Amino acid sequence: MVQQLNEPTSPSTPGKLKPDKSHHIHHRFRIHSSHSRLTLFSSLFLAFILLLFFLTFTPPPPPTTAPRRVLGDSWGGSQWERLVSKSARRSSASGHTVLVTGAAGFVGTHVSLALKRRGDGVLGLDNFNRYYDPNLKRARQKLLERAGVFVVDGDINDAALLKKLFDVVPFTHVMHLAAQAGVRYAMQNPGSYVHSNVAGFVNLLEACKSANPQPAIVWASSSSVYGLNSKVPFSEKDRTDQPASLYAATKKAGEEIAHSYNHIYGLSITALRFFTVYGPWGRPDMAYFFFTKDILKGKTITVFESPDGGTVSRDFTYIDDIVKGCLGALDTAKKSTGSGGKKKGSAQFRVFNLGNTSPVPVSDLVAILERLLKVTAKKKVLPMPRNGDVKFTHANISLAHKDLGYRPTIDLETGLRKFVKWYLEFYSSGSNYKKVAW
Ligand SMILES: *[C@@H]1O[C@H](CO)[C@@H](O)[C@H](O)[C@H]1NC(C)=O
Repeated sequence: MVQQLNEPTSPSTPGKLKPDKSHHIHHRFRIHSSHSRLTLFSSLFLAFILLLFFLTFTPPPPPTTAPRRVLGDSWGGSQWERLVSKSARRSSASGHTVLVTGAAGFVGTHVSLALKRRGDGVLGLDNFNRYYDPNLKRARQKLLERAGVFVVDGDINDAALLKKLFDVVPFTHVMHLAAQAGVRYAMQNPGSYVHSNVAGFVNLLEACKSANPQPAIVWASSSSVYGLNSKVPFSEKDRTDQPASLYAATKKAGEEIAHSYNHIYGLSITALRFFTVYGPWGRPDMAYFFFTKDILKGKTITVFESPDGGTVSRDFTYIDDIVKGCLGALDTAKKSTGSGGKKKGSAQFRVFNLGNTSPVPVSDLVAILERLLKVTAKKKVLPMPRNGDVKFTHANISLAHKDLGYRPTIDLETGLRKFVKWYLEFYSSGSNYKKVAW
């Protein structure tokens, strides 16, 4: 089905799907065999499916990867190098020097600000793709610039750029948050997931392995790797070999790829499995965000229930709690052991859940938003389509608690109040940010 959605006019198995037309027309009315009738019905059925596809699917947004730029066009030069060095300079003697990928993203912005605030050197990297409103990313970039964090405009797939960054700055840590996110968008643009979450990650690991010194890496995996696992709460030791979406599959692939780089090159690597992170400066493609937008506009929102009629729940985790988990992971990361692309000894390899341990039904999320916005939502309840979303997520965080001192403190109502306050200020017509298209 996914194949057909990508290329509706050229099915990948033409032999099976496309009947031999000349033969077919010629014999259709003469030989009323069940075989030819079957062929006729299957072609009518295929035409019907294609028609449905064209009627129900909105055209995909523009490609998410910025066109490849000419070297030196958006980065390079002595002034650029000065900005890079200055941003990466730590103000505390014990601080880290951190490269944050996806720095203009939701989690990337908050983590970069927190690191800078406590005295670490921070350099951001982001490709500002169009998966969601780039103006929101640019507004976050302004926030970062005001705090002294420079964000390099570039892609993790650009090997020359990464090499340059490691030549200019001896990073002690890489906080890798750049990724193609979203579960449902994978059906429209599968290539983007492979590009960022697999190829881009490998390119970054290559740069890290060759860097001298090798940095320690902390990166964002996802709770979606638990896929169809039904044992709750989800523990790091549970099976993760049944992904329910391409997004989850590429994150799982990332965990395996990370293990191989740890094993071969002695890179210290920590994966963080985030559980539905929300808060101010959040991602517009997430339910709490577009529910807020639609409720304020008086637009009907679609609330999914599971196919068996049960509730859909998420272990919503407030951004400040996630940031503490990220900093805890960076601070407890041991050094990589390799150098010059060679392993010198075994290195640390860790996986942690970062969740909130209390799943909340999506219907409760809507009720809280209605209270905070003082608007009654127009709701339509539909069974959840089988396009990659799972019924519930629930984190067991005892490992992160033990090793990172991770202890989430913000409940959903408190966190959403902070989000709504930010949302109303940010999108109010009088604000500085009114250029943000939404
Ligand atoms: C949570 O995970 C830990 C191991 O990290 C395990 O000892 C504990 O039993 C788990 N708790 C539950 C409720 O499954």
